[in-house]
Amino acid sequence: MMKFVYVTLFENLISPYFEDSILKRAIEKKLISIEFYNPRDYTTNKHNKVDDYQAGGGAGLLLGVQPLFDTLKEIKKRNPNAHFVFPAPAGKTFVQADAKRLAKKEQIVFVNGRYEGIDERVVESWADEVFSIGDYVLTGGELASCVMSDAISRNINGVLGNEDSLSEESFEDMLLEAPSFTKPVIFENKSIPSEFLKGNHAKISNLKNEMAKLKTKYFRPDLYARSCIK
Ligand code: 6GU
Repeated sequence: MMKFVYVTLFENLISPYFEDSILKRAIEKKLISIEFYNPRDYTTNKHNKVDDYQAGGGAGLLLGVQPLFDTLKEIKKRNPNAHFVFPAPAGKTFVQADAKRLAKKEQIVFVNGRYEGIDERVVESWADEVFSIGDYVLTGGELASCVMSDAISRNINGVLGNEDSLSEESFEDMLLEAPSFTKPVIFENKSIPSEFLKGNHAKISNLKNEMAKLKTKYFRPDLYARSCIK
């Protein structure tokens, strides 16, 4: 059982994502669970203020150190083996290999900053890893946490109905997935590749492999260069 813990001021930005489809079923099957902590519940100041000004000036507020620190301490006390992930545009890019690796953890804590971010000292002392999901800026880490949780969950045994779909998909061997087709054979005057109709599975598998290589070479030359395929 994987437990995802979210530190966020905005639980509602995350919880609905688990209320349908595959992740809903994963929770019902007790393969994953989700839990929320709101730093606002850990404030010690009079007005439950969770934000603070940047030292030295600068536009925008930071999540205050005290409420966040106390929240993290409580989570650590209750989950001593938890792996702490901080979503941030300055992190290393989250890739499929990270999703597979993190799927083996028991608990992952996603620490979501809002405003302009999180005091660097909290990141330094608490983050096991800092991840970005791409080169653009989001209003907060919540969406990135959902993205990473989704990618991790589908690598947990039993979450996908058909585990075969994992080994054939994009980024296995650093290649994009080959195109797939369904019925009808001819749609809007376009046929599916004729080999797919003949039922020779070795040939189809070869063809798919060639298509995956070509597609990667054409659309993602950067991936192709890093792949082991020559
Ligand atoms: Cl992980 N967080 C935020 N706030 N913005 C991002 C991001 C993460 N990844 C890309 N942009």
